[in-house]
Amino acid sequence: MNRRRLLAGLATTASAATLGNAVSASGAAATAPGGAATVDEAIARPGKRFVAQDCTALVTGSNRGVGLGFVEVLLARGARRVYATGRRMKNLEAVVALDPKRVVPLVLDVTNDAQRRAAAAAAPDVTLLINNAAYPGSETASERRFRAASSLDDMKVVMDTNCWSPAELARLFIPRLIANGGGAIVNILSVGAFFCLPEFSSYSVSKAAAAIMTAGLRAETDRDPVQVCAVVTGGVQTRAMPVGAKGGFTPVQHASEVLDAMAAGETEIYAAGARSFVDRIRADPKAFERTVIDRFYTNPVTIAPYDH
Ligand SMILES: NC(=O)c1ccc[n+]([C@@H]2O[C@H](COP(=O)([O-])OP(=O)(O)OC[C@H]3O[C@@H](n4cnc5c(N)ncnc54)[C@H](OP(=O)(O)O)[C@@H]3O)[C@@H](O)[C@H]2O)c1
Repeated sequence: MNRRRLLAGLATTASAATLGNAVSASGAAATAPGGAATVDEAIARPGKRFVAQDCTALVTGSNRGVGLGFVEVLLARGARRVYATGRRMKNLEAVVALDPKRVVPLVLDVTNDAQRRAAAAAAPDVTLLINNAAYPGSETASERRFRAASSLDDMKVVMDTNCWSPAELARLFIPRLIANGGGAIVNILSVGAFFCLPEFSSYSVSKAAAAIMTAGLRAETDRDPVQVCAVVTGGVQTRAMPVGAKGGFTPVQHASEVLDAMAAGETEIYAAGARSFVDRIRADPKAFERTVIDRFYTNPVTIAPYDH
């Protein structure tokens, strides 16, 4: 038996099923995997799909930027309810104003365990969790770097916000999604997960770790009606875009791409120009790293001031 055939005995995917409220002909629940003969066949089989129509979503960091874009597109696509969460209730007024009947504001600092549990208790009907909130690291540039930092304390906050907290939320919500007939978890990553941007080392580390965390969740939910998606985000026009960067997609374009890909059954989603960026890294990783290091010394990447 060749290696791919052997692996096929281990690698399994759920058969075609659309999760959540829009149900395919085969029903809401993703069925148990069948024995495809080869890995190629297993990969080629349709995976779990999720459509936004009639879903109930919870979006972290939804007061602005990418998160706000998700709320707008979810509402436009017929979501039944969107829990718009943010660290301060006052900052959620504008997102609630989008549709006061369907947008429910919740205070949620994702690093706060009591607030995570309170949000899960307040939102029992969720079928879609979007882990969007992220912390880019200290405004003091040196604290984002391994050698220059006075301690690793800020880096640990970055890891907590961008990797452990989404994992904790996933752990809280997976049983809910299953109880609600199926659903999806979306972890917003970054092209920064594919290389170290030395100006934001801690951010790159956290996103790379979150990518593996997402793959672990996907494996653990393979037999459940839960679609777990990693979104590799490229450039979106938010406060977090590097100063001087041109182009970029709008948050609404980004969210639309992601939701289209989920409906098509994709779980590794490259959005907002990320595909060509990652292709460039993969084509010549050493040349890419050289360019990044040279820029670090001559013209370092910065982002606009932010308050954390
Ligand atoms: N923009 C891009 O080009 C780009 C590229 C790659 C990946 N991404 C990813 O896209 C996601 C959103 O980023 P963005 O561009 O929209 O940036 P942003 O405008 O800076 O928004 C970040 C959001 O995260 C929230 N947040 C930070 N720490 C939090 C915490 N502890 N608890 C709860 N919320 C917290 C912020 O809330 P406050 O308003 O309270 O600070 C804000 O709502 C992030 O995961 C980011 O890594 C963005």
